[in-house]
Amino acid sequence: MQSPRTKIKDALTLRPGDAGAENLRIKGWLRSLRDSKQVVFMTVNDGSCFASLQAVLGPEVEGLELLRKLGTGAAVELEGDLVDSPAKGQSVELKVKRGALIGDAGSDYPLQKKRHGFEFLRDIAHLRVRTNTFGAVFRVRSVLAQAVHEFFAQRGFVYVHTPIITASDCEGAGEMFRVTTLDDANPPRETGGAVDYKQDFFARPAYLTVSGQLNGESFALGLGDIYTFGPTFRAENSNTSRHAAEFWMIEPEMAFCDLDDDCDLAEAFVKHCLSAVLERSAEDLAFFNQRIDKGLIDRLEKVVASDFARVDYGEAVERLEKSGKKFEYPVHWGANLQAEHERWLTEEAFGRPTFVVNYPKAIKAFYMRRNDDGRTVAAMDLLVPKIGELIGGSQREERLDVLTAAIEELPHATVEDYAWYLDTRRFGSVPHAGFGLGFERLVMYATGMENIRDVIPFPRTPRNAAF
Ligand code: 4AD
Ligand code: MG
Repeated sequence: MQSPRTKIKDALTLRPGDAGAENLRIKGWLRSLRDSKQVVFMTVNDGSCFASLQAVLGPEVEGLELLRKLGTGAAVELEGDLVDSPAKGQSVELKVKRGALIGDAGSDYPLQKKRHGFEFLRDIAHLRVRTNTFGAVFRVRSVLAQAVHEFFAQRGFVYVHTPIITASDCEGAGEMFRVTTLDDANPPRETGGAVDYKQDFFARPAYLTVSGQLNGESFALGLGDIYTFGPTFRAENSNTSRHAAEFWMIEPEMAFCDLDDDCDLAEAFVKHCLSAVLERSAEDLAFFNQRIDKGLIDRLEKVVASDFARVDYGEAVERLEKSGKKFEYPVHWGANLQAEHERWLTEEAFGRPTFVVNYPKAIKAFYMRRNDDGRTVAAMDLLVPKIGELIGGSQREERLDVLTAAIEELPHATVEDYAWYLDTRRFGSVPHAGFGLGFERLVMYATGMENIRDVIPFPRTPRNAAF
């Protein structure tokens, strides 16, 4: 009987002589092949871990003539015994007895053994996962995703699947992608000439969601503590290293909670996710620490161990004004904080993750709870070094009259559009709070990768939806 496939991750935990170290069969892709005439050395990676396995093929191996001609990228199956490796770089290697080709790659395989720039690799996003960097990024991304569910499960939060197609603009910012089945060359029109969306699939204008929050709130006001974790979409034309048109967001929502409780949860959440990566992705992190972002591990360990700072928007602005630093954008009370301001606060002023709370109401979303001072809302942003805004959240306006007045001020929406949402304030309304964490920004923070396009499998950004 054939021995089953052993993942390289498991093979590398074995020592020669251990049970399972003989006649093991690995399957993977050739990272390199070196032919020294007497023997052939292959480096094989199967994605199960960062490390590749070195395999040695002597003249006794059947089919050696075919195998030694293979190039980088070919998929192979190798069977043999684990033995001590005389060479440095690895403690064990596979002494191959039998080998076979599974899928050839050809000399035009674009990932030849040399370093490729991230921009070049974005053009081959369907193959880049076979490189060291991207294998590591996407293993860490997976560990983080599982840590997210684990954190909320441990605290008794209910996982809710909020809709992806929606008629509500959660942020009220009009940055939504339209979903329609109308014939774009010849859509039905109202008498005035406007497109008649009553004849569209949903009999109304429909969009891809920018956030699951409004639906999440309705569920929190019944289930208590809930969270969503799903894709969200923004038709904002920002071509930065931190914005994508499609990104994943984690949005918890808690009934009977205020802004302080919200910050407490956010802090515990970020710490939980980063400790999970430190614990479970040591090998991948060691690579990032060495090749991508020196000091990464040290920084992550400090974040997990230290208290996050909390500062009022008003005080943050004063500090920025007094900093003596020349910013590109001016800063004054009422101004939106730009990335440069956010980074100065978290990197220079506080030197750690920092919550900025109580922003002016004019620059924040309609659903945030109005503070008694009449000019600020109970909002919070979590700023972290190198990234800037990682989380945006707030206590929600639970008072029906105040919320209705805020919706009446929206330029693109009416109270009727939000009728179902207002119902949640009409019937058994309670103080509640929540936040949204941009998952890709968390992956960037945990890996030191500097461009959002390099932490999401197939990035969607303005003018780019290849693959
Ligand atoms: O601050 P935002 O817009 O907040 C909301 O959507 C709220 N409804 C969340 C809530 O309270 N439930 O977005 C939340 C987070 C940001 O802090 C940022 O990390 C991320 O989502 N984000 C983006 N990430 C990548 N690309 C974009 N275009 C993003 N826009 C926001
Ligand atoms: Mg925000």
